[in-house]
Amino acid sequence: MSIIYNKKSKEFHLFNDQISYIIKILRNNQLGQLYFGKKVHHRDKYDYLLENVYRPMSTYVYEGEYSFSLEHIKQEYASYGTTDFKYPAYEVVQENGSRISDFQYVSHSIYKGKPKLKGLPATYIEDEDEADTLEVTLYDQVINMELILYYTIFNDYAAITRSCKFINKSKESLNITNAMSLCLDLPDNNYECVQLSGAWSREREVKTRKLEQGIQSISSARGNSSHNHNPFIALKRPNADEFQGETLGFSLVYSGNFLAQIEVDTHNVSRVLMGINPLGFTWHLEENEDFQTPEAVMVYSDKGMNGMSQTYHKLYRTRLARGKWRDEIRPILINNWEATYFDFDEDKLVEIAKTAKEDGVELFVLDDGWFGKRNGETSGLGDWYANIERLPNGVSGLANRIEDLGMKFGLWFELEMVNKDSELFRQHPDWIIATPNRRISHGRNQYVLDFSRKEVVDYIFEMASKILEESKVSYIKWDMNRSITECYSRALPPERQGEVFHRYILGVYDLYERLTNKFPHILFESCASGGGRFDPGMLYYAPQCWTSDDSDAVERIKIQYGTSFVYPVSSMGAHVSITPNHQVFRNTSLETRGNVACFGAFGYELDLNKLSKEERIIVKEQIKFVKEYRELIQKGIFYRLQSPFENNISAWMIVSEDKKEAIVACFKILNDVNAPFRRIKLHGLDENMIYTLVDSKQNYYGSELMNLGLITTDSSAGQVLDGGEICTDYWSKLFILKVEE
Ligand code: DGJ
Repeated sequence: MSIIYNKKSKEFHLFNDQISYIIKILRNNQLGQLYFGKKVHHRDKYDYLLENVYRPMSTYVYEGEYSFSLEHIKQEYASYGTTDFKYPAYEVVQENGSRISDFQYVSHSIYKGKPKLKGLPATYIEDEDEADTLEVTLYDQVINMELILYYTIFNDYAAITRSCKFINKSKESLNITNAMSLCLDLPDNNYECVQLSGAWSREREVKTRKLEQGIQSISSARGNSSHNHNPFIALKRPNADEFQGETLGFSLVYSGNFLAQIEVDTHNVSRVLMGINPLGFTWHLEENEDFQTPEAVMVYSDKGMNGMSQTYHKLYRTRLARGKWRDEIRPILINNWEATYFDFDEDKLVEIAKTAKEDGVELFVLDDGWFGKRNGETSGLGDWYANIERLPNGVSGLANRIEDLGMKFGLWFELEMVNKDSELFRQHPDWIIATPNRRISHGRNQYVLDFSRKEVVDYIFEMASKILEESKVSYIKWDMNRSITECYSRALPPERQGEVFHRYILGVYDLYERLTNKFPHILFESCASGGGRFDPGMLYYAPQCWTSDDSDAVERIKIQYGTSFVYPVSSMGAHVSITPNHQVFRNTSLETRGNVACFGAFGYELDLNKLSKEERIIVKEQIKFVKEYRELIQKGIFYRLQSPFENNISAWMIVSEDKKEAIVACFKILNDVNAPFRRIKLHGLDENMIYTLVDSKQNYYGSELMNLGLITTDSSAGQVLDGGEICTDYWSKLFILKVEE
């Protein structure tokens, strides 16, 4: 059992071989936070960590003494206004208007395994021995509310998951206006905060800032987790880098509005909060109703940022993603979006598929435009049946033709949306999210269906099921292309309007759950105008996600590099598209486009018929390469080596678990002349194994590659002689290393 409760000192110690997490029941029966970090020896009490001091202007809990102030004590799930003045973990508004609460320890249970969260995505276990759970029950006697804090520690991961549940046990109604999934008071502020922020087509840029006194936060209030900020932050020591040093990761398993915040107080205590964004949020609880927060996953690493990322990668790839496709090799796909946009018919699609099949592609994906009267962005969403003008034989007719070619068939959906010009909207104009008597804003000419209403989700489920039952569909791309505005549900009473954003996401999760259960053979890829909902919540239902609408190879180096801070390579949809690129109009070589895209769920998004003979040969080679190495790429251990955010030349590598195979990728943005000699030190190899560089057949010990480095000097270091490899802007190279048996 890796959770110990010491009755005498009233302390909980959660630990495994790598980490410790220590909680104490304080003198006032609330919970105090003593430690989260690298594993420490167990002892009966750690209360020396409580530093009680007298400080003027502080307030104290007990009359006649000056020692016990929540302002000075690090708390486990902090409340506001009873001597602590920082932003709290939660707030409950009572019928008399009071917002003060006092949740005191009542009982706890420690057990093997990990409980499921009803209706919410979460990490899971397959065997009870994989994890231990601590549940602490707290109670506020005045308002008769119960609060349960859940902690699970995995045995093989430096990771702890957290969530909480509020239960109203009183006759009066209570309103929760803030309920974080995680609250962690750290004893100092000597950290830099790393966040993944950006915009549409510029997702998950790595941004770092030093913590300063006051509040620093990232959030989403758009209804989706967003392109703008990913629900993740890391706190790293200033001297920590990719390979060494302490890093704490915080990731929220949620796809809606979130807040990730750090408040540094006057005494340099840093409070981390993560959970549903309190902006616009209230949850109304009548007697015996409860509210469950999403799950947050905290990771500790003393091996820098790569150490943290590798924990997330494996945990999320194998204990968050589910279903048949979790472990199965992903098919190489071709998607028609950038090839045709809305300009296609059945024959044109089959021509694209035929050529792709010849080159070795396994799955043809039909993107937007196949349904209702969808001739552009203004119509059709909501009508999930074939657009007969384009597909005279229906979806099933096209699917059969694709299957006859020996390929699988995939289909695009945007199930959460509706255009005003659609049968669905004409029949149910009141099914959209809209505030009564107010103008409704649009995004891409579309409106958001009110997924907080069960009948709406039921209807969409039936419609989608029908088409999936009628046609041979092996893959679904589930898109979502606008944020929510004028948030209001006509089906909910006034006191529950603050619940709509969260209920909407619960509706999305419900539909995903139903469709993935009913069609377990289908591979789901989530998408939100590219990577606007690339979050752990989505990964629970869809093991891969369209990483970005920006398919330019140079831009993608940064996007995939940033995404890799939390998400495994297997989750990143990555396609080779045409040049000049449709987003940045850049020309890059087909080789470089392939070298970037192969570090992801690989595919093409162009019409191969438009390529030259020579290009088709390259495509065939790429496909052969991906087929040979995709198992390694999908399941290997990923290391970021050199950041594209800081260097002209960036690099990453992937190593198999048995360390016998590795691929190193180098990308150069602008070419240079008479360039320096270059080496890159590799990581994760076995120092005693002898690796052969597949291209040159040269042998090296792992110790050489990791300490002397791999020579990556390219032809720009000197004058290129006749027949020599020419290095240009946007050059890239893959180095394959193998241990010969
Ligand atoms: C946004 C997606 O990110 C694209 O890949 C494409 O599917 C379009 N939507 C279609 O409307």
